[in-house]
Amino acid sequence: MTGAETGMAGTVYKQGWTLDDVAWGAFDSARVTPELLAAVKAAALVEYNAADYADYLHRIFRNSDPQTLADIAAWGREEVQHGRALGRWCELADPGFNFESSVARFRAGYRPQHFMSEEQISVRGSRRGEMIARCVVESGTSSYYSAIRDAAAEPVLKEVAGRIAADEYRHYKLFLDILHRQNEPELPFWRRLLVAVTRVKESDDDELAYAYYAANMPPSAPYDRVTCVRLSAARALSIYRPVHIKKLVQMIAKAIGANPQGRITRMAGTLVWRMLRMRAGISAHMAKA
Ligand SMILES: [Fe+2]
Ligand SMILES: [Fe+2]
Repeated sequence: MTGAETGMAGTVYKQGWTLDDVAWGAFDSARVTPELLAAVKAAALVEYNAADYADYLHRIFRNSDPQTLADIAAWGREEVQHGRALGRWCELADPGFNFESSVARFRAGYRPQHFMSEEQISVRGSRRGEMIARCVVESGTSSYYSAIRDAAAEPVLKEVAGRIAADEYRHYKLFLDILHRQNEPELPFWRRLLVAVTRVKESDDDELAYAYYAANMPPSAPYDRVTCVRLSAARALSIYRPVHIKKLVQMIAKAIGANPQGRITRMAGTLVWRMLRMRAGISAHMAKA
């Protein structure tokens, strides 16, 4: 294992790792759990699909300085690598799983409108809006992979999730930095909040549900959106612990210019945790029904 240091808070992984840095030989099939495996299969497809998102961001930031464009390109490559690393782990954990064919199914069935258009304005209305939406997504992935790392008993998944969580946090900081570098007028607070809330709500959209379907169900099964939303939510939400949600809410608060340590952010953190637990319970219950 390279590109890592062990500090007080556990292993800290550095940027620029490759698949060869992962200690694949430590894989222990007895420690794989079906719940985490299903969630990781779906996550692998979403990550791998980031190349489309990188093309879209390149269009939105086409006249930016070379550093910003290079950073966006490097970000896209890291997201695709996350997909490859998770996909390889899933193939080890389930020899019946074929990453490439699941990716092909996912891409054939899911392509958001704004990836296919030639539109050069962000669907969020501005570059600042786009960066706030990106910060929300990176806050989500950073906390999700931290939660997977902490929940995983299988050592290779723990390592891969730890490496990805560290990358996602760096992505968040990168997009926060690009957000503040834009020479567009600052958005009013209500607008920043609206972009963040809209992006959080979109987490319910087809992307995660369809990835769950393409990764976990046979092609002969019809795609039932409602069932797949429930199954994917039940799997994902049961992995989180309060500490991950607290961090997630603090990161989003900072991105929209609210006080991450303030009373309202703390209250929002508690509220979001309760809502997620309730939804996870309902989703798990309905998924069994
Ligand atoms: Fe990622
Ligand atoms: Fe990321």
